[in-house]
Amino acid sequence: MAKVKVKTGFVCSDCGATYPKWQGHCSACDAWSTIKEVRLGPEPRSGRRDGFAGTTSPVTLLKDVQFTDEHRFSSGSEEFDRVLGGGFVPGSVILIGGDPGAGKSTILLQTMCHAAASREVLYVSGEESLQQIAGRARRLQLPLDRVKMLAESSVERVLQAAESERPEVVVIDSIQVMQSAVVDAAPGGVSQVRESAAAFTCFAKTSGVVLIMVGHVTKDQSLAGPMTLSHMVDTQVMLSSTEDARYRLMRTTKNRFGPVNELGVFAMTEKGLREVKNPSAIFLSRTENAAPGSLISVLWEGTRPLLVEIQSLVVSAQYGSPRRLGIGLDQNRIAMVLAVINKHGGLVLADQDVFVNVVGGIRVLETSADLAVALAIVSSFRNTVLPQDLLVFGEVGLSGEIRPVSNGESRLKEGVKHGFTRAIVPKGNAPKKEIPDMKVVGVTSLSEALDAI
Ligand code: TYD
Ligand code: MG
Repeated sequence: MAKVKVKTGFVCSDCGATYPKWQGHCSACDAWSTIKEVRLGPEPRSGRRDGFAGTTSPVTLLKDVQFTDEHRFSSGSEEFDRVLGGGFVPGSVILIGGDPGAGKSTILLQTMCHAAASREVLYVSGEESLQQIAGRARRLQLPLDRVKMLAESSVERVLQAAESERPEVVVIDSIQVMQSAVVDAAPGGVSQVRESAAAFTCFAKTSGVVLIMVGHVTKDQSLAGPMTLSHMVDTQVMLSSTEDARYRLMRTTKNRFGPVNELGVFAMTEKGLREVKNPSAIFLSRTENAAPGSLISVLWEGTRPLLVEIQSLVVSAQYGSPRRLGIGLDQNRIAMVLAVINKHGGLVLADQDVFVNVVGGIRVLETSADLAVALAIVSSFRNTVLPQDLLVFGEVGLSGEIRPVSNGESRLKEGVKHGFTRAIVPKGNAPKKEIPDMKVVGVTSLSEALDAI
């Protein structure tokens, strides 16, 4: 019998870029030692997938393209809906990524049990047995009657079941354990994950089913990380844990149907994940006694404000070059703020270790916390306590100017809601009309802000 020649290719396990021969460095994503040899299967059978979205179409004028308004429907959780930009869009593909134990299976089981009240739902688990899932659902007291379950890891059999059951939502938990017969490679590898995800995406686009895939992120990235997948999906949601593991933060990093960076907050309890409607309150649990270096700022997370405590500790450096450490903050921004304090605030911190921490494990992604960071550092350096009812926000510029940030008035109102009575903000953000119960000081430079405290 003639020997069948096995075709192989070289694929980066981080980003999925392909190469004709092995190399140590992936020029696409700049990773080292991630390129692995994979066996390539036969070409996908014809008819299965023609275009990426599963259809072939002639060239058409944009104005002639028929479209229907998207009719979103609820995921079964208000927070999840908000993160998605207002619920599920039919035919969309959503990837939920996160570390193992982040709560991906839990949140999906909870929301699907509730969504099933009004929608047909199929939950495919390739990782846990149905008994395990049923046990958990019962313990969490979820409505069990209408969710359809399938324990399966073969892509073809999942698609078969989905075609015959005609659900409106399909959950694949997780994409890394799915195996397609088209590819001759182990599950979890780049080629398997990519092929399986492409088959599911094609199914969603042609059938109008909402498809949710769970994707693990591992520290060593030995599994295909969501980078390979994020190009394919419409929406990518990351679920992460706060440092104390009590809360779970949900954030979109890509969304073709809504804004990104919307933050959803859940508390992990013995009864599963509970929605946190007022996250400011939890990140703001301060001790009774005010301490130097502590200050409250207000961030803007997607469509709503979030109050956070910024802490700083400035101590004289014992040995070597002074340390600058930020937890929850960009290291470079701290260095910049320190330089501005030095040049425009007249404080020399060159021989000081500076630590800045955002309480509650929140990661600050915007510039509006700059001024609070600066004042917290100065407060710790001078060992003076700042008032407990003071709110500070604003961007610090290189020439010491304080720049306005978006949604200033809403940020101030969030402060009023939580009992803050004074604020130091950029002049551009100071309201034209006085806010009752709040004394707002508008500043244009760092030295003005320093004078105000
Ligand atoms: P899980 O949803 O299995 O995580 P993932 O699918 O992302 O890997 O969540 C597991 C974690 O959640 C585990 O560390 C225990 C915790 N947990 C609770 O604290 N309470 C609960 O009611 C449940 C179901 C899980
Ligand atoms: Mg899981």
